[in-house]
Amino acid sequence: MIEPKTPSLPDLIELRNISQSYDGGKTYIIKDLNLLVEDKPAQGQFVIILGMSGCGKSTLLRYIAGLQSPTEGEVYLRGKLRQDSDHVGMVFQAYSSFPWMTVKENVAMGLDFQGMEEKERNLKALEMIELVGLAGHADKFAQYPVLSGGQLQRVAIARSLLANPDILLMDEPFGALDIKTRIQMQDLLLTLWNKFHSTIIFVTHDIREAVYLGDDIYFMKYAPSSIVEKIHVDLPLQRDHETRRLPRYTELVYEVEDTMLRIAAG
Ligand SMILES: Nc1ncnc2c1ncn2[C@@H]1O[C@H](COP(=O)(O)OP(=O)(O)OP(=O)(O)O)[C@@H](O)[C@H]1O
Ligand SMILES: [Mg+2]
Repeated sequence: MIEPKTPSLPDLIELRNISQSYDGGKTYIIKDLNLLVEDKPAQGQFVIILGMSGCGKSTLLRYIAGLQSPTEGEVYLRGKLRQDSDHVGMVFQAYSSFPWMTVKENVAMGLDFQGMEEKERNLKALEMIELVGLAGHADKFAQYPVLSGGQLQRVAIARSLLANPDILLMDEPFGALDIKTRIQMQDLLLTLWNKFHSTIIFVTHDIREAVYLGDDIYFMKYAPSSIVEKIHVDLPLQRDHETRRLPRYTELVYEVEDTMLRIAAG
């Protein structure tokens, strides 16, 4: 079950008593959902959301991003009701690059609103493009088939990582990547997260990825949806290749899988 809140930690994100209906209240897709993510200063949080397809994971991210309001309930950011001016970064489930701009322009956009000079923006964008493995593609248009699906997703990831928001929402960001690139991107994300201490809300269907990246894994039940369980990932905070070889890592993968199956069975 969800633990009571820790008195000393400030609240970063709270979804309170959320319900969602699309037919005027006859049926509810989400019912009485609560989620509290506390800020751990100088550490950040890596929160994973797991749940069956269609249960409302992307919808939760849309609430936090301010792209949709729930039928009932409230969204709080940093202890206050969410305002239109609140900025959070988001990597969408489908590719979200701007096809009429080059890769470099897309990535540099992450820095646009910070008022940085164009030359510096471009330099930083190129660094990040290299980090996500797209060196040599900077001046191509960010569109399919000039770039592949996985490459386009990396453009979106580079843009949001460069912007370095204190809240970053990632919706199955590595779903379209091959295993090698996927592991590289997971490690890059961890490296940057350790540096910037942002709070990341990360949706995935990949249990190994969830255990490798997450501090806390939240489980959603379906029809109607709510968050029903949480597993704390008690692996060392610093994760690397060796983490995947730890017996505790394998145990947690099975624990998470069993929990998913138990919740899915109702
Ligand atoms: N405008 C709408 N009208 C009716 N139903 C909607 C609308 N928008 C979303 N839904 C429904 O809300 C539910 C949750 O959708 P959501 O995209 O959040 O699921 P998800 O958990 O992200 O699924 P997946 O894992 O497949 O990405 C789905 O059943 C979807 O059909
Ligand atoms: Mg989704």
